[in-house]
Amino acid sequence: MKNFSFYNPTKILFGEGRIKDIAGEIPKGSKILVTYGGGSVKRNGVFDEVKEALQGYEMLEFGGIEPNPTYETLMKCVEVVRKNKIDFLLAVGGGSVIDGTKFIAAAVLYEGEPWEIVKNFGMTVSSAMPFGTVLTLPATGSEMNSGAVITNRALNAKLPFSHPTLFPRFSVLDPTKTYTLPLSQIGNGVVDTFVHVVEQYLTYPVDGKLQDRFAEGLLLTLIEEGPKAIAQPTDYNVRANLMWCATLGLNGLISVGVPQDWATHMIGHELTALKGLDHAKTLAVILPVMLNIRRQEKKEKLLQYAQRVWGIKTGDDNARIDAAIEKTREFFESMHVATRLSAYDITADIIPAVVEQLKAHGMVRLGEKRDVTPELAGVILKECL
Ligand code: NZQ
Ligand code: ZN
Repeated sequence: MKNFSFYNPTKILFGEGRIKDIAGEIPKGSKILVTYGGGSVKRNGVFDEVKEALQGYEMLEFGGIEPNPTYETLMKCVEVVRKNKIDFLLAVGGGSVIDGTKFIAAAVLYEGEPWEIVKNFGMTVSSAMPFGTVLTLPATGSEMNSGAVITNRALNAKLPFSHPTLFPRFSVLDPTKTYTLPLSQIGNGVVDTFVHVVEQYLTYPVDGKLQDRFAEGLLLTLIEEGPKAIAQPTDYNVRANLMWCATLGLNGLISVGVPQDWATHMIGHELTALKGLDHAKTLAVILPVMLNIRRQEKKEKLLQYAQRVWGIKTGDDNARIDAAIEKTREFFESMHVATRLSAYDITADIIPAVVEQLKAHGMVRLGEKRDVTPELAGVILKECL
């Protein structure tokens, strides 16, 4: 196992009815800006519940943060925060609203042009405003990590950044608030979580026995509970399990002391930037091919994954790896997330642009062994058609 430091200060308020407890987490007298997306939280009553919980505080709102939040929209919010002398941000929504709010929290205090925050992967951040979250879509883990992914429309760039000041102070995880998710977003959430775990687990062995078992536990739970959420969307326990999986899948716990991949994510971000494809859908398309093409480098962990997660025990090494990759693809399809670019009307002509974008963004040595080049990404994408 490698050396590591582990730090995660986010307080989790989990369970039905927990929105009412947020007031106790925000300093008295704070002027709060509630940020949200395209309006789902206004339609399903979550916003009203938040407003009720914040009685006694001065509260303003900023809506319209889009899926794959853009620098252009977020800078408008930065102006609102500065003009109104806001002291606390509260993100109410999915990963996009939370990520966008992290950018706002850093940008408000940033000296210089805020896009530098993203361009430099967060390295030039020194402070951020305090913020909390009310999560409505379990998927990204943003509610308990210090990362965000922001899109710059003008530059056609979608890039991740992180900084230790960008952990939420608290996050409310009320599974009943996920009941109104459309089926496509339930599937997206399960697939995104699954791929987060795989990116931190399916690399090469370093004897991180507990990290492996945690990761396998998350994957097995997703495989068990994911299809139930599609069949019985208002089953509380199913939603509760999926919500907690998504948070633990990317809060730093399973990645300590072990190598990490993230090549599927970085290639996926370029596809979203160029074609607008949902984040999870890019992952469902790329991951099976990524595992297939890098089967030699990932051989030991692929065999472990085949046995422990899918129960595959017979056949030679290649046959077991083939079967595990096929099971992965079938699982994504069973969550109503298609695994071929053709299903999204994306054709081969996009591939050179993705390769160029990866180069332009410095994504030239991806993967746990830094051997996934833009050219290899091009080869992988051809197999994704
Ligand atoms: O905008 P509204 O109207 O709220 O509707 C949203 C949106 O259209 C809707 N939705 C959310 N909760 C709902 C709901 N609809 C009905 N009922 C509810 N309870 O769902 C749609 C998608 O929301 P979005 O926030 O975009 O989805 P998600 O949570 O999957 O976030 C995706 C973004 O997170 C980034 C992705 O790249 C993408 O930009 N990621 C962030 C990560 C992180 N911070 O650690 C890691 C991830 O790998 C990921 O890259
Ligand atoms: Zn993701």
